[in-house]
Amino acid sequence: MVDSFYTIPGAPFLAHLSDLHNRDYHPVERSLLRHRPELICVTGDIIYGTMPEDDISPLVAQPNALGLLRACADIAPTFVSLGNHEWMLDEEDLDAMRATGAVVLDNDWVEHDGLAIGGLTSGHVMRHRRALSNLPGDERGAHRYPARGGVRDIMKTAAELLMEKLPDDDWLMSFASAPGHHFLLSHHPEYRRLVPKEVELILSGHAHGGQWRLFGHGVYAPGQGIWPKLTKGIYDGRQVVSAGLSNTAPAPRFFNPTQVVYVQS
Ligand SMILES: [Fe+2]
Repeated sequence: MVDSFYTIPGAPFLAHLSDLHNRDYHPVERSLLRHRPELICVTGDIIYGTMPEDDISPLVAQPNALGLLRACADIAPTFVSLGNHEWMLDEEDLDAMRATGAVVLDNDWVEHDGLAIGGLTSGHVMRHRRALSNLPGDERGAHRYPARGGVRDIMKTAAELLMEKLPDDDWLMSFASAPGHHFLLSHHPEYRRLVPKEVELILSGHAHGGQWRLFGHGVYAPGQGIWPKLTKGIYDGRQVVSAGLSNTAPAPRFFNPTQVVYVQS
């Protein structure tokens, strides 16, 4: 794992963390304690989004996720948005995330020290919520989470009702017109097409650096396909994409270390 420093003129010194996927957070915590950022932005996928077993919250079954948020909130004001792997988390889970001291930005924004900091929730999360809300109550079953075997029915219904994994971007214009500088946490880098130009900084992850890097370019990223454009680094002077804190693919990463990103002015 490497510490990477990117320069955005006028930005406060912040840490940008993404894609922990329940891996050991202590190396990240040590990096944060070394560098002491003014604020910490976590752009989703803190868990690995398989179907929960025995109806246990993934945040209980995967304790590194809340461990990371607790560690971050002890170091600096911490803001977190939701990635595709958080698709099944419910309000109780979001409250558990808030109880760590982190601010959960679920299609929402807050004002902090002259900044408007927003979090754009993954369209995968929204698809699951839409599917659940469209199911009649007696078809949701007794499970809090989609049970193994049962999930197929829910997802089939989701496919019938709404195939798209679209994010809810209705709020972005009012966010962009709020006073102050605008920072947006958006797990998916490809959502940049939805982001108003008034947003000065977009923080993203999800691409895992393109998994293998050849001649400085990623090879594949979910949501972008082969030879993705947005995988690691600064784009257009206003989007910072993290290569992530972990590897979840069955294949190893090549020339693509995991990274803790710092943005500075
Ligand atoms: Fe992701």
